[in-house]
Amino acid sequence: MKIDISFKDPSKDYFVYIDELKELEFDSSVAIVTNQRVGGLWLKDILPKIKSKNLHIISIPDGEEYKSFETLNYILEQLFIAKLDRKSTLISFGGGVVSDLTGFAASIYQRGISFINIPTTLLAQVDASVGGKTGINTKFGKNLIGSFYQPKAVYCESKYLQTLPNREFSAGVAEAIKMAIMFDRNFFQYFANHNLHKKEELAFVIKKCVELKADIVSKDEKESGIRSVLNYGHTFAHVIENETKYLKFLHGEAVSIGMNMANLLALKLGYLKEEEYKRIKDILIKFNLPVYYKIKDKELFYESFFLDKKSSNSKVKFILPNSIGNFIIKDDIDRDMVISVLSEFA
Ligand code: NAD
Ligand code: GLY
Repeated sequence: MKIDISFKDPSKDYFVYIDELKELEFDSSVAIVTNQRVGGLWLKDILPKIKSKNLHIISIPDGEEYKSFETLNYILEQLFIAKLDRKSTLISFGGGVVSDLTGFAASIYQRGISFINIPTTLLAQVDASVGGKTGINTKFGKNLIGSFYQPKAVYCESKYLQTLPNREFSAGVAEAIKMAIMFDRNFFQYFANHNLHKKEELAFVIKKCVELKADIVSKDEKESGIRSVLNYGHTFAHVIENETKYLKFLHGEAVSIGMNMANLLALKLGYLKEEEYKRIKDILIKFNLPVYYKIKDKELFYESFFLDKKSSNSKVKFILPNSIGNFIIKDDIDRDMVISVLSEFA
């Protein structure tokens, strides 16, 4: 199956293919960017499918800490050494770290060359590989340097998820559940009725998430409005990730806790019913996701919201569920109300 992503500028349009990757043929040079882990597991599967007379492999170390200037520079240098030109294509083959780096490298190499995403984590298939956010981390924060640069195509192959560690799988489920809570009540119910063990269940979840994300990014490519809804749970998650120095939780796990915190706020404000709050929490737990984090200093936690790049004019923007399947964006929530939510985690 394939899902169309369209933009105001039709030259940016592309398809996301799910379980459709057979052969990719190129007239020009191609470089596959992957990491040591994914390359070791799956390069033997992908290489015969890429038909180019000039094919290069760029392997980077595995880990979020390598989503850096140094690795970006390494990729760019390899592209020059391999003599890629403006007609060449980069292929990202890995999780969100590889796709964010590769997309960014593609966006600046010789002022921009084509790139294709072949995501190999669930998180990258349901979220990171689609929508054109690319970038790297710096000591000042995550993803603070980057570009909006759309791929030419995305190929999500559910078979690559066979080797994904369970925790990484659950982290991807968190981002999928996020989409369901924000936009689609029936889709949310799907997580209650299925375990996502079967290939067709996974393909369905990937398809639903890509469709939902396609709709959002085609309306708001550069996050001037509705795209910010995809950051539900993230305001809390970023503080948790910072406090734990990115060591304790995977991003999707922090988002799961963050969603539970946002849901408690929504419950207190009357946007979510008690029964809905519990249903969401139960689904997150069912997929082995954490929902609790012990806050040491709630005042400090609150102050940290203002460091988030999504906060502006000293107002914290909260994305909350307005029942399951709808959202509300609030930037005028009383400090005491937020602190009372944080107190329940202290
Ligand atoms: P990741 O890329 O670090 O991958 C997680 C781990 O799984 C890594 O160790 C990786 O080597 C391994 N792995 C990948 N595929 C595998 C496979 N098939 N089998 C076995 N192991 C495999 O993490 P991620 O969760 O995919 O992505 C997180 C990154 O994505 C973060 O940097 C985040 O900022 C970014 N992100 C970007 C967007 C976006 O819109 N651009 C959205 C969400 C997240
Ligand atoms: N992952 C959030 C976004 O793509 O906007």
